[in-house]
Amino acid sequence: MCGIIGYVGTRRAAPLLLEGLRRLEYRGYDSAGMATLEGKLWVRKDAGKLEEIERKLGLSSLPGRTGIGHVRWATHGSPSRRNAHPHLDDSGEVAVVHNGIIENYLELRRVLERKGHRFVSETDTEVIPHLISHFLRRGEGLERSVERAVGELKGSLAVAVLYAREPEKLVGVRRSSPLLVGKGNGESFLASDIPALLPFTRRVVPLQEEEMVVLTPSSFSLRHLPSGRAVARKPMEVKWTAEMAEKGGYPHFTLKEILEQPWAVGETLRGAGEEAEKLSRFLLRAEHLYFVGCGTSYHAAVVGKYLLAKLAGLQVEAVVASEFSESCGGDGRTAVLAITQSGETADVLRAVRHLRSLGGRVACLTNVVGSSVTRESQLVCYIRAGPEVSVVATKTFTSQVAYLLLLSLRLGEESGRLDRTEKKELLSSLLASPGLMERALRSSLTRTKALARKMLEEEHLYLVGRGLGYPVAMEGALKVKEISYLHAEALAGGELKHGTLALLEKGTPVIAVAVPGESKGRLMSNLEEMRARGARMIAVAEERDREVREHADLLLPVPRTGEFLSPLTFILPLQLLAYHLSVGRKLDPDRPRSLAKSVTVE
Ligand code: F6R
Repeated sequence: MCGIIGYVGTRRAAPLLLEGLRRLEYRGYDSAGMATLEGKLWVRKDAGKLEEIERKLGLSSLPGRTGIGHVRWATHGSPSRRNAHPHLDDSGEVAVVHNGIIENYLELRRVLERKGHRFVSETDTEVIPHLISHFLRRGEGLERSVERAVGELKGSLAVAVLYAREPEKLVGVRRSSPLLVGKGNGESFLASDIPALLPFTRRVVPLQEEEMVVLTPSSFSLRHLPSGRAVARKPMEVKWTAEMAEKGGYPHFTLKEILEQPWAVGETLRGAGEEAEKLSRFLLRAEHLYFVGCGTSYHAAVVGKYLLAKLAGLQVEAVVASEFSESCGGDGRTAVLAITQSGETADVLRAVRHLRSLGGRVACLTNVVGSSVTRESQLVCYIRAGPEVSVVATKTFTSQVAYLLLLSLRLGEESGRLDRTEKKELLSSLLASPGLMERALRSSLTRTKALARKMLEEEHLYLVGRGLGYPVAMEGALKVKEISYLHAEALAGGELKHGTLALLEKGTPVIAVAVPGESKGRLMSNLEEMRARGARMIAVAEERDREVREHADLLLPVPRTGEFLSPLTFILPLQLLAYHLSVGRKLDPDRPRSLAKSVTVE
């Protein structure tokens, strides 16, 4: 996720762009930049926080009445001056800011380099100004060149384009990443999100999929690219406050991030490509494999362990990072995949350093480009879920799981566990999973709110699962504990009778995470054991799962995904339940007591 803004009008662009970027910083804060137009393109950009860059380079003193700006959350190429946006073509006449991921940038870059284009960054974005300039040089106009360039791009994008020879014009395109027009008097804006527009105007026009907009100070014209049709759309009046707008209109970042998971998983799957392939080769070369992580990332590691066993017949040990050096050895034949959203967790860094000191190899899966773990790893992979502002991890969990699913499918095919058709079918289900997640979220919102209302006075909650349902239960329990302070304990269904069953009394709430698969029948027997002790059984299950319905007092249904994809949807009602419990108990889910987003002490 990055933030983009554009302005064309009668005032000096740069101070307005800076003001807008300040309000987009929650979308990315590892680098920032601006390009304005007066006679020629003026560009200033660097790595670091927006205010530092403003102090150092004086972004706001750039000249001109047209300009674009960007705050970056790196996905391709580390945070650095040359990777910061805007990116330019060779002639220095086309400037582009971009939010999204270009999947086929390597192919396009090779083709353009063969035609003589010189690239200066490691980003996927840089292909865009070069492609536009390629079509401009062939004599096409600006709009047509942008359209043709976008036609070559696969992936997600929201772009704003500035062209030195057309100083009173700004072109924007939207595909899968948000983009809005803001209309003022004699001035027009473009932005990724409403907060950036609020200081200037409340008249907003959201772009729909595959639409292009051409802005001048006095007008904006929209066109649907695939059909070529002009689109008439009137501005709507936004009534949000600036704070509400930053959270996308939601009361908390936690809820916003829970609800943006379909988008985040889509980005993860779009961006993984060659990198996931390298990771599968990296892991196959090892004789002993460990996945290490803490908290939520550890739960994703456990999901990964089950997936690799089930889909690829590969044995992986999932280890809590802080226990790794105590419990695991290693040598040149050992590899670790460190799973860490922030890439800064001290326990994870210690575990990877321990393995490296024994001669083992390290790969990492993180959300933060250039974070400490990337410097300790021989292979670096990114989930590309966008910045996670809320202290509790939600969207990064499902993105980690989606990445591990993709990896397991590759390894499954490689190991011969999955034949080509099976892999193809699972892959297409995985690529379609954001749609199912969307449905699961929609159907769970009110159900979990009603359930939370009944549970506000509870002191204990148990979650049970078997198979892939077990790590999902662990993650659900963690969410409940972190933000609602209700004691929640997760158990593998089979473990109940070895102790915890003694704690169940009449009315004790228990949530069964009843994922489909071979172990579900045994979980149903566990449900009966618990019901016999008077427990109140709530079950997360696939819709129309009659068997679970018979054994549960209340059902939280999710769409059918089959066993392997189930962690992506089954966790959603549990996250929402935790959120509603938190709000219902008058707590602030964005700021859980005693917890920090990034734990840099051991
Ligand atoms: C849970 C949570 C923590 C983190 C843990 C690891 O909601 O946020 O449990 O998952 O501190 O953090 P990363 O993934 O950054 O290493």
